[in-house]
Amino acid sequence: MIGAWLAEMGGPLLSGPPSYLRSTETETEMNQHVAAELADPIRIQPAGPDDVVRLVDLKRRFGATAALDGVSLTVRKGEILGIIGRSGAGKSTLIRCLNGLERPDSGQVLIEGREISRLGERDLQPLRRRIGMVFQHFNLLSAKTVEDNVALPLKIEGLPRAERLARAAELLQLVGLSEKAKAYPASLSGGQKQRVGIARALAARPALLLSDEATSALDPETTRSILALLKDINARLGLTILLITHEMEVIRSIADRVAVIDAGRIVEEGAVWQVFANPKSEITRSLLGGIRPQLPPEIASRLLPGEGAETILRIDVAGEAARRPLLSELSARVPGPFRLVHGGIDHVQQQPVGTLFVAIPGSDALHLAAVIAFLKDRGARTEVLGHVAGSV
Ligand SMILES: Nc1ncnc2c1ncn2[C@@H]1O[C@H](COP(=O)(O)OP(=O)(O)OP(=O)(O)O)[C@@H](O)[C@H]1O
Ligand SMILES: [Mg+2]
Repeated sequence: MIGAWLAEMGGPLLSGPPSYLRSTETETEMNQHVAAELADPIRIQPAGPDDVVRLVDLKRRFGATAALDGVSLTVRKGEILGIIGRSGAGKSTLIRCLNGLERPDSGQVLIEGREISRLGERDLQPLRRRIGMVFQHFNLLSAKTVEDNVALPLKIEGLPRAERLARAAELLQLVGLSEKAKAYPASLSGGQKQRVGIARALAARPALLLSDEATSALDPETTRSILALLKDINARLGLTILLITHEMEVIRSIADRVAVIDAGRIVEEGAVWQVFANPKSEITRSLLGGIRPQLPPEIASRLLPGEGAETILRIDVAGEAARRPLLSELSARVPGPFRLVHGGIDHVQQQPVGTLFVAIPGSDALHLAAVIAFLKDRGARTEVLGHVAGSV
C-alpha cells in the first residue's frame, strides 16, 4: 500500500518521509530517509504530565557555524510556545532536531520523555506521527483533492478509505473548509491552503504541532484568521504547539510563552506579557521595536544629554503596577507639573503592559528624584532619556 502511495506521488520507493513533511531546504537530507518503514508501530511513552518536549544542551555545527550552541528548552503540555529570532538564528535547525530530520552533535531531544536524537529511521517513523507540521508554503499535493490531502497521513498508516475520509471530513469542519473537500489546492486562497495544511497536520492526532513560519506567506487579515484557528485548536483539543516565527505580532497574538534565539542560543525566555513588558536582551528589544511605543522621532531628535527646560522620562509598567491610577497618585503624592507626551497601555495575554513618556518641567534634581522614587515604589521602571530645551 505504501509503495502504491509513493508511486502515486511520483517518488521512488525509498525516498524518505512523505513530501508533505518536507520543507524545501531539507529535501536532500530527507531523501536519505526510508519510507518503507512507515508502518512500524512503536509506542512512545509520555514522560511527565507537563513536558511534551525537553531539549538539553543541544549543539549542532555546520562547519564554522554553530547553528545550535547549547539550547535547553521545555515545551509543556497544552501550551503554545513561540520561538522567535532573526534570520539564521537557528530556528529551523531546532525544529528539524525535534522531528529527527537533523541530528544534533551533542545534547538530548526528549519527546514525551523519550530520547530521540540517536534513534534510527525505523524508530523515528512512529515518532513523526506524534508530531504534526505546518509549513510556510503549505506543501500540499496539487494532484490530490483537499480531502485526500488531509487524509494522506492516515493512508500512510494504512487506515481504510472510509475511515480516512470520515476523519478528513471532521477535520475540514474543524478548520471551516467542509465545502472545499472535493476541490483541488490550486483553486484555494493562501489562507484556505494553510487551513488544509493544518487539518492534515492534525489527521493522525499528534501530541505536538510544529509550525515553521506558517503565516509568513499570508496577508495580515488571513494571518489573523489562521492564528485564531491555531489558538482555537489549542484551546479545544488541548494540543501543544511550538511555533517558529520572526514576527513578534504572531507571538503576541497566540503564544503563552516565548523563547528568543540568537546565534544558536536561547537569550531570553518567559511568559509573553512579561517579556513584552521587560525585555532583557538587546535582540528582544530590537525584535519588539515595531510594536512597543517609542519616543516619537521629533522629540528624540531634540534630546540633549545635559541640562534643559524639561526632562523626558520613560515609564514602563505592567501587571499590577499598570492597573493602579499611577499618574493621578503621582500628582497627589509628588506635587509638581508633568505632561504626558506619548505612550499608552496595551494588553498582552490579558495583562496590561504600558509605556508612558512624560515631560517634567524645571531642572530641580530633588523633584525629579522624588518622582522617580515614587514611581519605583509603585512597581514602575523609569529611565531618564534626556532633556529638551523648550516645550515638546
Ligand atoms: N545544512 C546546512 N549546511 C550548512 N549550514 C547550515 C545548514 N543548515 C543551517 N545552516 C546554518 O545554520 C544557521 C542557522 O540556520 P537556520 O536555518 O536554523 O536559521 P533560521 O533561524 O531558521 O533562519 P530563517 O529565519 O532565515 O529561516 C545559519 O547560519 C545557516 O546558514
Ligand atoms: Mg528557518
